[in-house]
Formats: sequence, structure tokens, C-alpha cells
Amino acid sequence: MGSLLDWLFHFPPLLWGLEQTEDIVIKALKHGKVPQHVAFVMDGNRRWARKHRVETIEGHSLGFEALKNLLRVCLKMGVKEVSAFAFSIENFKRSKYEVDALMDIVKNSLTQITAHGDMVDQYGIRIRIVGDLNRLKPDVYEAVVKVVESTKNNTRATLNVCFPYTSRHEISHSVQNIVRLAEDEKIVPEDIDEGLFEKNLLLNDSLPLDWLIRTSGVERLSDFLMWQVHEDSEISFIDNYWPDFSVWRFFPMLIRYQLQSQQDA
Ligand code: FPP
Ligand code: MG
Repeated sequence: MGSLLDWLFHFPPLLWGLEQTEDIVIKALKHGKVPQHVAFVMDGNRRWARKHRVETIEGHSLGFEALKNLLRVCLKMGVKEVSAFAFSIENFKRSKYEVDALMDIVKNSLTQITAHGDMVDQYGIRIRIVGDLNRLKPDVYEAVVKVVESTKNNTRATLNVCFPYTSRHEISHSVQNIVRLAEDEKIVPEDIDEGLFEKNLLLNDSLPLDWLIRTSGVERLSDFLMWQVHEDSEISFIDNYWPDFSVWRFFPMLIRYQLQSQQDA
């Protein structure tokens, strides 16, 4: 049944045109359960580039295009929050060339989509940069702060760009904040509970994570949203490399998600 569903989605866009079919499918999906917070581990860009004999950076750039398409579908469906793992603190171990290029891709992509009339403006998205901003070069830092500032009053949806991020850093950061509160005698140990801990995370004021999707066949969390994954979070691992993760691959997954939610209800 699973593969039949995937197979069916190969044909409608060829028959009726991409945009019209996309809108018809989204309209139908809106009748089912729509996840409120979806997270993506965008893995497999370099393997995609190797497979297609192009530069690694090309894989990352096309990775951003894939994210943009999925984000559009999520927003049209009514997903309220999307979190994307754009750069792990571990990625600083890669070559300077690749790190600099990735930083530039994130900086330029964010500037592009926040331009007046572009995606963020069109859908009313608030962008948050979640991570250790002290590690960013000044030009990248300035650009992302500008993006956050210019979108902070948008209320329809939130895009969390996790960059440069690891859960272990986020959790240590929360502990540091709480210890400071205790040192300043603003709290006593008994005040420390899940709520206070969460309030001090980088990704605070966030909706419960309904669904985490990782591409490229790797079945690991890789230090991503380890606090946020809760007992009811769905986790899906798919084989496609990230740049190949199209909306037409996403639609059958959404249908399965909705069928699964009906069974669980
Ligand atoms: C993982 O694939 C992907 C990354 C390290 C970078 C992902 C970043 C983007 C797609 C840009 C997103 C931009 C914005 C604005 C959110 P990999 O390099 O680990 O590939 P591999 O697993 O094949 O080695
Ligand atoms: Mg990888």
C-alpha cells in the first residue's frame, strides 16, 4: 500500500500541471490532521552532489530550494512551525571552504526569502535563528539578526533555522541560565521543573514537535531537538537525499501521517 501511494504521486503533476495539482492535494489534506510543528534534518546534500558529479556546494544550494518548496506546502496546509537543521556545531569540523560556503548560502537564502513580496512576507513567517550565534562571522551574524528583527512581528507561522545548533549546546545553555537565576536568588531549586527548563532553551516558546523527518537513509537524531522530541513525536527516516525530497515525495508521507493519526485517535 505504501509504495502504491508513492507511485500514484508520480503522475498527477504530469497530467494537470504542478501548481494546480499541488493546490488540489493541499486542499484535500487540510481536511485531515495537520501537524503543527514539523522538523527536517536535511541530510544527504554531499552524496547527492557526488552522485550527480557536481560541486558539494551545488548540493547545499539545491538543498535550500528543496526546503523552500516543502516550506511552501507546509504553510499552505496550515503547519504553524517548521524547524530546519541548517548547520550543526559539528559541521565546523568540515573544510573552511565548505563552512564558508554554507554560511553564505544560509545568509543569502534568508535575505532572499525575506525580501519584500517574497515567501516570508507573503506567508507572514517569523524567522528565528536557533543556535550558538557567537560562532558566526560578523557579516553572517549581522545579516541573520536583521532577518530576525524584520520578521519578529509576523504571527502566522514560525521558521526555526537551527544554525549553528546542537541539542547538547542548547541544553547546556538552559542549565547555565538557570544556575545564573539561582545565583541571583531569583529562584530556589524547587522552582526547577520542565517548564522553567524549557523557558530557558534557545527554542523556547515553541509548539510541541509533532513530526521529525530525516532524509538520506541515516537513522540517527545527530544531536537535533533531543529535548523537543517527546513521547508522541512521529519520526520518519526516508532514503531520498535531501535535494531529491520533493513535495511529491512529501504528499504520500502526509497521507500516511494522517491515516496513522486516525488509527491512534
Ligand atoms: C547535510 O547534508 C546538510 C547540511 C550540512 C546543510 C543544510 C543546509 C541547507 C540545505 C541550507 C538551508 C538554508 C536555510 C536558509 C535554512 P550533508 O552535507 O551532511 O551531506 P552528506 O550526508 O551526503 O554528507
Ligand atoms: Mg550528512
